Amino acid sequence: MNSAARPRNWSAGRTPALAGVRPGAAPAPVASANALVLHNVSRSFGALKAVDDVSLTVAAGEKYAVLGSNGAGKTTLFNAITGDFPPTAGRIEFFGEDITSLSPHDRIRKGLRRTYQSSLLFRDLTIRDNLFLAVRGVASGRFSMWRPSASHTSRRATEDLLERVRLSHIAGQPVANLAHGQQRQLEIGMALAGAPRLILFDEPAAGLSPAERRELVLLLQSLPRHMSFVIIEHDLDIALRVSERVTVMHNGRVLRTGSPADIESDAQVQAIYMGGRH
Ligand SMILES: Nc1ncnc2c1ncn2[C@@H]1O[C@H](COP(=O)(O)OP(=O)(O)OP(=O)(O)O)[C@@H](O)[C@H]1O
Ligand SMILES: [Mg+2]
Repeated sequence: MNSAARPRNWSAGRTPALAGVRPGAAPAPVASANALVLHNVSRSFGALKAVDDVSLTVAAGEKYAVLGSNGAGKTTLFNAITGDFPPTAGRIEFFGEDITSLSPHDRIRKGLRRTYQSSLLFRDLTIRDNLFLAVRGVASGRFSMWRPSASHTSRRATEDLLERVRLSHIAGQPVANLAHGQQRQLEIGMALAGAPRLILFDEPAAGLSPAERRELVLLLQSLPRHMSFVIIEHDLDIALRVSERVTVMHNGRVLRTGSPADIESDAQVQAIYMGGRH
């Protein structure tokens, strides 16, 4: 999304319509291993340190939020984790394995997924076909597409994902017909293909109506316990409801990491991002 179109102060994006949605409903982590550990990760573009010495840990199964104003370095952090723009310094571990210099594709094979700030859907294809392509893209043995059994398995997986993201009833429609919120649901469904271990969601609520945001929160809260995610979100209500741990970034650096309650009541976070509202 064009950053100029969004409020610079993300406190402006709070969503009263979420009042009925359970807070803190994300389940506790189930395993002791860490899903993702960043050790002093930096990413420079020329003289600009877009991500500057960031360290953070996402436990296996943990739901994690990254907050910060426009240009804070959030998407660049995701790009470093996925390898789209690898770190220029530091180390990244994924379930205990050093993935710092792996290709993006190898990271996907290890169970890492992301969604993008701007949609990457095939607009002329149906919802079902978009999901099927995502399933086939990550399935092992995908070069044997002609095999009826492999295709059958992928079709079943596609139908399961359609159910999970609640789009079965309109699965035959072209993506171009979808409301914005439904497109975001589909993108999440595509990121779920192949049973990932960690998903990075880049502002999935951007541009959604209050009703669509509510649906998104329910979808995020319904993800499996063992699946970790990191969500970048400008809407504080969404971020604090779906996550168990939060990092606030400012000018490429970590300003604060803590529980949603810690972050909401932190004086410095309030001063910088909420205009001292509380
Ligand atoms: N590929 C790139 N080349 C050069 N500079 C970049 C590149 N990607 C990001 N930047 C710069 O890095 C800084 C951080 O950008 P980034 O997109 O990570 O911010 P963000 O926190 O995701 O912001 P937003 O909330 O607007 O999405 C910005 O100054 C941006 O212009
Ligand atoms: Mg961004």
